[in-house]
Amino acid sequence: MVDFQHMGDSFHARWLDYFENRRGRELDAPFDAPFAAQAGRAAVASSIARFELGESGDGANLKRLSAETGQETYARAIDLFVAEENQHARWLGLLRERFGGRKLESHWSDGVFVLLRHIGGLRREICVLLTAEVIALTYYRVLSLACKDPVLKAACERILLDERGHVAFHRATLGHEFADVPAPARAVAVLAWRTFVATTAAVVAYDHREVLGLAGVSRAEFTAEVRTRAARLAQAIRYAQPEPLPSAP
Ligand SMILES: [Fe+2]
Ligand SMILES: [Fe+2]
Repeated sequence: MVDFQHMGDSFHARWLDYFENRRGRELDAPFDAPFAAQAGRAAVASSIARFELGESGDGANLKRLSAETGQETYARAIDLFVAEENQHARWLGLLRERFGGRKLESHWSDGVFVLLRHIGGLRREICVLLTAEVIALTYYRVLSLACKDPVLKAACERILLDERGHVAFHRATLGHEFADVPAPARAVAVLAWRTFVATTAAVVAYDHREVLGLAGVSRAEFTAEVRTRAARLAQAIRYAQPEPLPSAP
């Protein structure tokens, strides 16, 4: 369970402000631009559908756990975080339709993530969430290269900006938590997390290999980029370094 005792109101208020300032900002993308038929269209649509499903969760377990901390400001920030992810799902749905794909009702990868998030407390939930966020940073960058489409490019850039904020948010929470954990235990925890991230990234790279191929990115390159980012984050969590917030939009 995350120890929120030493996390002052200003910490939560900073993040609540961050999400409130961004609330309702729509995606600025040229949806009227004609869509040119391209090779790999079906593969991109199928890949988007899987991430759309992942972004569409109601966050019920996370909301319950955040409410149990007794920190109302944190719980409200979590509500807005979940709403931002759901907005991503909506934008991805529009993209999927543009690429001619069908909506997915379930997929094994989403089921695994949901299961892993639900078998622990808030700390476990955030660690699994942070794993998905770190992988998303590489995925959306690669997805934007898979097809030449202005809407795809605009959506990926916007979602990437939001995801950088999510990474900073969860990282800050974990950094506070780890501040009171003895150094050896902290080192073991971040190593375990990095191993989990690397394994998950390899699975995601295989599952989305067609999109990686269209983007000219190998599975090894995809996994290496995720691992590098996870290593940096692990260091920051271990030593609780501050990180600037992403700027507008
Ligand atoms: Fe997202
Ligand atoms: Fe996110």
